[in-house]
Amino acid sequence: MEKNVKELVSQMTLEEKAGMCSGLDFWHLKSVDRLGIPSVMVSDGPHGLRKQEAGADHLGINDSIKAVCFPPAVLSACSFDRELLRDLGDTVGKEAQATDVSVVLGPAVNIKRSPLCGRNFEYYSEDPYLAGESASAFIDGVQSHHVGTSIKHFAANNQELNRLSCSSEVDERTLREIYLPAFETAVKKSQPYTVMCSYNKINGTYSSENPWLLTKVLRDEWGFKGYVMSDWGAVNERVPGLKAGLELEMPASGGLTDKEIVDAVRDGSLDEKVLDQAVERILNITFTWLDNRENREFTYEADHHVACRVAEESMVLLKNDNVLPLKPAEKVAFIGGFAKTPRYQGGGSSHVNSFRVDSALDAVKDIAQVTYAEGFPSSKDIYDETLAAQAIEAARNADKAVIFAGLPESFESEGYDRSHMELPQCQNRLIREILKVQPNTIVVLHNGSPVEMPWLSDVKGILEAYLGGQAVGTAVVNILYGRVNPSGKLAETLPLKLSDNPSYLNFGEKEKVVYHEGVFVGYRYYDAKEMAVAFPFGHGLSYTTFEYTNLTVDKEALTDQDTLTVSVDITNTGKVPGKEIVQLYVADHTGAAKRPLKELKGYEKVALNPGETKTVTMTLDKRSFAWYSTDLHDWYAATGEYEIMIGASSRDIRLTKKVCLTSTVLLPLNLNMHTPLGELLKDERTRELGKELQSKLNVFFGPGSPEDSSAASDSAASSDSEASEEDLMSEAMAASMPIRSLVSFGLMKKEDLLKKLAEFND
Ligand code: BGC
Repeated sequence: MEKNVKELVSQMTLEEKAGMCSGLDFWHLKSVDRLGIPSVMVSDGPHGLRKQEAGADHLGINDSIKAVCFPPAVLSACSFDRELLRDLGDTVGKEAQATDVSVVLGPAVNIKRSPLCGRNFEYYSEDPYLAGESASAFIDGVQSHHVGTSIKHFAANNQELNRLSCSSEVDERTLREIYLPAFETAVKKSQPYTVMCSYNKINGTYSSENPWLLTKVLRDEWGFKGYVMSDWGAVNERVPGLKAGLELEMPASGGLTDKEIVDAVRDGSLDEKVLDQAVERILNITFTWLDNRENREFTYEADHHVACRVAEESMVLLKNDNVLPLKPAEKVAFIGGFAKTPRYQGGGSSHVNSFRVDSALDAVKDIAQVTYAEGFPSSKDIYDETLAAQAIEAARNADKAVIFAGLPESFESEGYDRSHMELPQCQNRLIREILKVQPNTIVVLHNGSPVEMPWLSDVKGILEAYLGGQAVGTAVVNILYGRVNPSGKLAETLPLKLSDNPSYLNFGEKEKVVYHEGVFVGYRYYDAKEMAVAFPFGHGLSYTTFEYTNLTVDKEALTDQDTLTVSVDITNTGKVPGKEIVQLYVADHTGAAKRPLKELKGYEKVALNPGETKTVTMTLDKRSFAWYSTDLHDWYAATGEYEIMIGASSRDIRLTKKVCLTSTVLLPLNLNMHTPLGELLKDERTRELGKELQSKLNVFFGPGSPEDSSAASDSAASSDSEASEEDLMSEAMAASMPIRSLVSFGLMKKEDLLKKLAEFND
């Protein structure tokens, strides 16, 4: 660093330091000219720049400079391609350098808890591993240009309703396993220069003033080195926020909160060192950018091609009953307003002012002649008889009909949630009408979050284009006509209906949203419930086929200190080149905790020519097997059997292998008078004590007198097949008995029991 930041901070006045902790205006930090600290700019993203020069706002209402709109996270995550996401980040970083943006506000990694969240289109996945890997790759790309990122919204911001005041009520294990890991992975692997705290409260405390979140977890445990900025207007109390670890408040506070900081230092309620450290952290990042200015030229057209490639590599072919790819010689009807004016990004702060947008109707001109009928208005839910009749006629006269359906802009946006999961009824109705005259019907979906598909089994093809960025039309047409072999897979489950979703009864509450479903989010829930879904997590078709063989592991027994290398051979058994996303799930069979049936712990995308085979290798470590134990305050992989599952989707597991893991850690016993006897009998360390206590209890519940109780207690641990039904019942009842019952029933003195327990808790 050219500037000695510590030295600079020591030369700043108290007012200058406090001023550095909030914005100058909507997008800039303050300058201190006399010390050579210039004002630097931050800007939304992340899927393209939303750099505003005048008329600033954080809801995407006013215009920003012309830029390239890349596919939002909802689509790019479906690439399951770290390299592609790195390229995307690299392109955005280069544009940021060229336009004087020091920090790009993103990526956004909140977990898709409900399909209704208005901002799902900005988020990667329902799966924390995929979200973390995707974010990390994007950050690496942007920051390779010394432009910062701001991973957001930290944390548990999973609905838009009352997002500035609502409390997400989430237990710690669920936070650690579902809602925090994407941030954790990105911080540990890629050190985003900044983190943006969320608007909401977590368990009653605003994220902007939560020391557990901003300091203990983020800095002390994960080793975050940059600075935390608030979401726009997320500050509740400035001084407690600063103490908790919120360095920068955005946007400007009109000087009010700067004064609160100054006053707090003066009256001794805030240690000036806390302020100094915050300013140092902010300036470290500012100078990292300033010291590495690149005079990067970029051309919109070249970056448009990047946007197109990301879209092509990410769109998901959901269904194909031998109807795709289309052939240029076929008579095809394109139907639906989205063919002409595609919906390709969401509303709100990430809204990019695209310099160009490709429609499918324009793009197809280079390949084939199609007929077009608007069919329905893309911005409203009105069944227009005239438009519908024209569309039905066009479909009848064609060999195949492609319906460009989707959600109108107003259906999903930052700032509010959806109230249902349906497409506009006019579209569902027209699809039904067209199916009556045209069996070869294909639907292309333009949506930021799942929609119910009542016509699912009747159409022959479905392409999930999600929100495709400004090159959407070209990407769709290239996939429809087989110029590009589709290779995206779903980063979320598409449920059959909204009420199937695990958060259905606990979403959209105004003050407190209780995350009752715990870790059972997305496929973790649908799998555990053995529920039918429209399309499972990880699903996506190709125009070729792949065979999975030769699953090998480098060891069948390991400890939680070891890594496990898993390899599998993938062969392209079809006729065209293609890419396959190989997914690795781990299933915990130890029974030590209630866990999802399987969880994604690895994936690779592999390109194969027809007949070609490649070996895909993935490495697992303790975290791949572990769950978060709140007793241990750490990750814990229990001793026992695990299954490695290799799949083409979460519900298309092709190969499995079992491994045995030995834990080097023991869970703390935490015995007390309320511990059930069964717990003592289950754990090797306490089994003898358990038997001793059980033999006493058997006076009441056991098969006989205390004298013959040792046989009974043996059977408790090993389930004696000879035992009578009554014995088994009484044993089962005794197992849930708190050990204080021995005192209640006068079988032991409280002091004696406590003494025995104390030996184990030392
Ligand atoms: C959004 C952020 C965004 C910020 C600045 C907020 O409303 O939640 O994601 O970066 O505005 O526009």
